[in-house]
Amino acid sequence: MKALAARRHHRFAPVVLIMLALLVTGAVYAALAPSSAQAEDAVTTADDIEHGAALFQANCATCHGVDAVGKADAPSLIGVGAAAVHFQVSTGRMPMQSNAPQAPVKPVQFDEKQTMQLAAYIASLAPGPEIPSAEAVDPTLGDPARGAALFSTNCAMCHNAVGAGGALSEGKYAPALWNTTPTQIYEAMITGPQSMPVFNESNITPEEKRDVIAYVVAQRDGTPGGENLGSLGPVSEGLWAWILGIGVLIGAAVWIGAKSS
Ligand code: HEC
Ligand code: HEC
Repeated sequence: MKALAARRHHRFAPVVLIMLALLVTGAVYAALAPSSAQAEDAVTTADDIEHGAALFQANCATCHGVDAVGKADAPSLIGVGAAAVHFQVSTGRMPMQSNAPQAPVKPVQFDEKQTMQLAAYIASLAPGPEIPSAEAVDPTLGDPARGAALFSTNCAMCHNAVGAGGALSEGKYAPALWNTTPTQIYEAMITGPQSMPVFNESNITPEEKRDVIAYVVAQRDGTPGGENLGSLGPVSEGLWAWILGIGVLIGAAVWIGAKSS
C-alpha cells in the first residue's frame, strides 16, 4: 500500500493514468459501437418486413392508414418505394408532428436499422423507387463540373445556385442542401418530396445524378474568396458593406471630431 502511495506522486503517474483511461474508453467504445455498414448493406428479410410493419402500425398508421393506403389528411404510401420512406424518415420529416404547409426537417426519430425496416415494409406492399447503392451516390465518382451545369438548369431556380435554399410560394421553401447526405440527395431526386418535381432517368440519368451530388457536396468545402456570407449574393454582401463600411466611416468621423476639439 505504501509503495502504491509513493508511486502516486511519481511525475509519470498522470501520463500513465491518462493512457489507461484512453485504453478503457477505446475498448468500451469498440464493444458498444454499432457497425453501421452492416445495417446499410444488409439484405431485407421477412423479419425486417415484420418489424417494419410493427413500427408502421405504432408510428405512422394513425395518419397513413392501417395498410398504408392513406387517409383524409395523409397520402397513400402504396408504390412510393423504399427510397421515399428512407428519405422522409432519415431526414426527420416523418413521422410528421403538426399540420404545416411543409413537413420540416426534425431530429431523426428512428435509427438506420428501423428506417430500413420501415422502408422494407412499404416496399413489400408494392414496388417503387429503391434506395440507391453506395456506389451510385459516391461524390468522388461524379464530375462536379457537369453537375454544376445540370444543377443550374434543374435545381437552382428553387435551391439557389450553390444549394443555399430559397423561399417558394404559400409558406413553402426549398431547403438548403448543406447537411443532406448523398443518399438523401439521390432519393429527393427520384421521389420528389412535396413541391419538388421527380427527376426520372430520362430527365437526369443515374450517372448525371451522381454528378449533381458531386457538385452539391463540393459547395460545402469553404469558398476560395473567403467568407461566403451564406452564399446569398449581392443582398448580404451589400448589407455587410453598409454595416461595416459606414460603421467604420462614422467611427473615423467621430474620432477626427473628438481630436480637433
Ligand atoms: C401526423 C400525420 C403523419 C404521421 C404520423 C406520418 N405521416 Fe407521413 N405524411 C403525412 C403527410 C401529411 C404527408 C404528405 C405531405 C408531405 O409529403 O410532407 C406525408 C408523406 C409521407 C411520405 C411521402 C409520400 C410520397 O408520396 O413521397 C412518406 C414516405 C411518409 N409520409 C412516410 C411516413 C412514415 C414511414 C411514417 C411513420 C414513421 C409517417 N409517414 C408518419 C402525414 C403523416
Ligand atoms: C420547384 C422547386 C424545386 C426544384 C426544381 C428542385 N427542388 Fe429540391 N426541394 C424542393 C422543395 C420544396 C423541397 C422540400 C420538400 C419537403 O420538405 O418535403 C426540396 C427538397 C430537396 C432535398 C432535401 C433537402 C433536405 O433538407 O432534406 C434535396 C436534397 C433536394 N431537394 C435536391 C434537389 C436537386 C438535386 C434538384 C435538381 C435536380 C432539386 N432539388 C430541384 C423544391 C425543388
